Amino acid sequence: MAQEKFLVLLPLVVLALLGLACVQPSLARESKAMKFQRQHMDSHPAAISASYCNLMMKRRNMTDGWCKPVNTFVHEPLADVQAVCSQKDVLCKNGQSNCHQSRSQMNITDCRLKNGSKFPKCVYTTTQKEQYIVVACEGNPHVPVHFDACL
Ligand SMILES: *[C@@H]1O[C@H](CO)[C@@H](O)[C@H](O)[C@H]1NC(C)=O
Ligand SMILES: *[C@@H]1O[C@H](CO)[C@@H](O)[C@H](O)[C@H]1NC(C)=O
Ligand SMILES: *[C@@H]1O[C@H](CO)[C@@H](O)[C@H](O)[C@H]1NC(C)=O
Repeated sequence: MAQEKFLVLLPLVVLALLGLACVQPSLARESKAMKFQRQHMDSHPAAISASYCNLMMKRRNMTDGWCKPVNTFVHEPLADVQAVCSQKDVLCKNGQSNCHQSRSQMNITDCRLKNGSKFPKCVYTTTQKEQYIVVACEGNPHVPVHFDACL
């Protein structure tokens, strides 16, 4: 009797474990700091062509299930972007007080979903700029976890 129950339950337990194993990898375990790097850091781009955003938004998993409408990539060393966390204190757009503005302008690329572009065909405009960036920082050490704005 007990053994029968065990044999009935075993497949359920195995399924449950497989389910966990499938949910866990990749994005589920990504920290906010890692997510910032995936979405916003491209320190050494090969060349920035008109299709840069189409390729990079896809490669960095921002076109999975939907097209992320706006995203900025920063082409500066990670250390220089992390250093912004100890630069000028500014308010974030949402009113939180943990944002910081870069002391100097940075090379960035602005990606914007084209009007009428719909998932799964995510088509972006690619615009290179030199602007000050604003990032929100968290943790110890204080690291960027959110890209707030460029000015
Ligand atoms: C994008 O997602 C795939 C599948 O989940 C994963 O293998 C890959 O490492 C991810 N890419 C990045 C840049 O996180
Ligand atoms: C952006 O990159 C160009 C080419 O590498 C460089 O000449 C320029 O000084 C950079 N601008 C900033 C703000 O870092
Ligand atoms: C895109 O669509 C919005 C809203 O429909 C409109 O306000 C805007 O002018 C359009 N932009 C372009 C570049 O066509």
